[in-house]
Amino acid sequence: MNFLKNKSILLGVTGGIAAYKTPGLIRGLKEKGIAVKVVLTENATRFVSPLVISILSDGIFTSLWEEGIPHINLSEEASLLCIVPADYNIMGKAASGVADDLLSTVIPAYDGKILFFPSMNSKMYENPILQKNIDILRGLGHIVIEPDEGPLACKGEGKGRLPDIDRIILEMEKALAPDLLKGTYCLITGGATTERIDPIRYITNRSSGKMAYSLARYCYLNGAKTELIVGVNALDCNRYLPINVIRVETARKMQEEILKRWDEVNYLFMNAAVADFTVQKKDKKIKKKKELTLKLKENIDILADLKSKKGSQFVIGFALETEDLLDSAKKKMKDKGVDLMVANRESAIGDDYTSGFLISRYEEEPFQCSKDELSWKIIKRIRS
Ligand code: CTP
Repeated sequence: MNFLKNKSILLGVTGGIAAYKTPGLIRGLKEKGIAVKVVLTENATRFVSPLVISILSDGIFTSLWEEGIPHINLSEEASLLCIVPADYNIMGKAASGVADDLLSTVIPAYDGKILFFPSMNSKMYENPILQKNIDILRGLGHIVIEPDEGPLACKGEGKGRLPDIDRIILEMEKALAPDLLKGTYCLITGGATTERIDPIRYITNRSSGKMAYSLARYCYLNGAKTELIVGVNALDCNRYLPINVIRVETARKMQEEILKRWDEVNYLFMNAAVADFTVQKKDKKIKKKKELTLKLKENIDILADLKSKKGSQFVIGFALETEDLLDSAKKKMKDKGVDLMVANRESAIGDDYTSGFLISRYEEEPFQCSKDELSWKIIKRIRS
């Protein structure tokens, strides 16, 4: 599911140096099939070429006095108005009701929530007038995304950088998503845990963490406070997701991190492939030899141990099976106190696609889809 699909973005570009990045943003949106019209302020035209914007976008507008009534037409047809970058000037105009050019006149004519990406020198960003204007805009229901910290065009370092294009597109998608998980805290585990054999070696499994990152993305898009606990070797998917990612090595450490948060959790997505065995660890590196026998012992079962601590938390479990998919998953569901079980096959490991069954107390729904589609299906199911 892509919440930007078939939507039209009206992009307001103002006169900050980061305006030079907007052609890349427009390209990124167009590659996803999204219609983009652009309003440039006069100052923005000093930082980015109107010709480039007109070639890449579905229309460029710079004056209130063009044919028709551009501020009304543009604001009415847009699914989302997004100002990237938003300079000091436009934040002040939007917060105080000044409308003296096309963009500042589109803003009051647009009746939805507006997404602002302020970007400027860090002293200007920290200026109390700007901060007050941000509070006013947020108080009116608009969304203001904090700039990134780092090197700034004016040579210094600080808060003021425009976030990466992937992050901007993510926030646009979030602004259009249905907020199904607003007000909830979702904790997701994923990837494989590992158990040390000696200081150099360990045992683990092939889980990549892709499903967990996809779940985290959809929880975030739907307004949840989202945290992700993943194994140290999980892929770094969706690096731009602005959520807390905790990397853990062992099952014990994963359990510890879950328990620290357990009382606050509304939804636990227990997607991690927890190593089922521990090894009696050697303190020194085991030297090469003709044969070696490792003694493996049963590891803790995080989910089964949580069963007795369950209050109002809703637990989504994941069962990976190579045989007896349904029966085996149903047994785990009962044994571990799982509310919704996702039974999937070995072919899902490391892949973008997965197949299996969503098992609730009442029904078993087969699925064969991308991990993103499955994440969305699960969220709709737990909120229906
Ligand atoms: N799980 C867990 N702790 C473990 C093993 C699994 O919390 N030590 C959780 C997984 O995160 C998943 C569910 O239990 O949500 C089922 O995991 P799975 O690996 O399919 O089953 P196991 O219980 O490990 O059983 P088996 O390996 O024998 O199939």
